[in-house]
Amino acid sequence: MLALLMGSCADKSNEAIAQTTLSQKMYITIDGVSQPVTLYNNAATQALVAKLEEGPVTVTLNSSGGFEIWGALGFSLPTSNEQITAQPGDVILYNGSNICLMYGSNSWSYTRLGHIDALNESELRSFLKAGDSNIEVTLSLQPASSEPTSNTLVIYYSYTNHCHEIVQTLTSQIDADVLRIYPKDKNQQYEANGYAIGMQLLNTINANPNSADSYPEIDPVSVSLDDYDTFIIVTPLWWSQMAAILQTYLFHHGAEMAGKDVGLIVSSHSSGISGVVADAERLIPDANWMGQALWINNANHGNRATLIKNWLSDIGYSDISTIIEDINTDSHVGLPGIYNLNGQKLETAPDSGIYIENGVKKIATKK
Ligand SMILES: Cc1cc2nc3c(=O)[nH]c(=O)nc-3n(C[C@H](O)[C@H](O)[C@H](O)COP(=O)(O)O)c2cc1C
Repeated sequence: MLALLMGSCADKSNEAIAQTTLSQKMYITIDGVSQPVTLYNNAATQALVAKLEEGPVTVTLNSSGGFEIWGALGFSLPTSNEQITAQPGDVILYNGSNICLMYGSNSWSYTRLGHIDALNESELRSFLKAGDSNIEVTLSLQPASSEPTSNTLVIYYSYTNHCHEIVQTLTSQIDADVLRIYPKDKNQQYEANGYAIGMQLLNTINANPNSADSYPEIDPVSVSLDDYDTFIIVTPLWWSQMAAILQTYLFHHGAEMAGKDVGLIVSSHSSGISGVVADAERLIPDANWMGQALWINNANHGNRATLIKNWLSDIGYSDISTIIEDINTDSHVGLPGIYNLNGQKLETAPDSGIYIENGVKKIATKK
């Protein structure tokens, strides 16, 4: 079934063309968030729909040229290239086997695939992770389920991508959903004038920390914290405090983490993190803090895989239910008895940390 619509580019004088579109939508999913794409009707989209009918396709795209994320599809589609000026939101086939998702504009010989309808330019930049590398993008004919895939949610903000890399390393070690917080104002240079803007934002918060007006605006977030029982907060340090952007999110949602397990990872150039810990305790007043916060300074950033692994072990992070199941189903590890979180049988209960006794999770706090 076809619909004849004026395409999104109908308002552009040089491309005032009518596009026929497919009634079948495609969905682009990034970090669990799906956006519908209206597909134009051409040989390329028909072949793409046929391919997606076999199942979703996940590609790894990279930012390029300040206007797009793009990369190889892993298969070829028929081309009908024309010289066009692609606009924000356009979904483009380049050279027959690459997909480009535009957050800016660029003139080139392209085949149009479709258009992300629902987002404005600034929302597109957030959704497409403009500026990032190795962005996992899933193309499908159904939106991704919004159901959480883990009990753990990693919440982070990153300005120069150190925290982003920390989160990538962390999620290579644990099974967790990820929520990245973005500022509303994407053009702010927090480091300008000797980091003065970052300082100004923090001064405004410090002057009146209980007022929502003190906190810089962030992009809306739709993730429900009710779905999670463990949170790991990853934040840059600014002027020895928690970066203002993440403070905004926690000011509004920190109370929802009451009674839940919360861990904190802080990235700084070199400053110590006690001020960030104090901010976290103010913004998430009733958290069950999982051990000490992990501090990764820039000199140690390259060593983050080991630091994170050791920290996870120190705070006793684990998917308790999976391990109990493993113990129950592993014929080499019989019950009853005392086990550590790797399923190894212990002679006696440890003085500190989490262990399993007769299939029941126990926490020893004596140091
Ligand atoms: C506004 C601002 C203020 C900062 N203040 C400090 C500071 O007081 N001490 C420090 O060691 N690093 C400071 N930094 C550096 C960051 O903490 C550090 O580069 C961190 O790794 C950045 O994480 P990100 O790349 O995820 O944004 C500051 C950075 C910015 C942007």
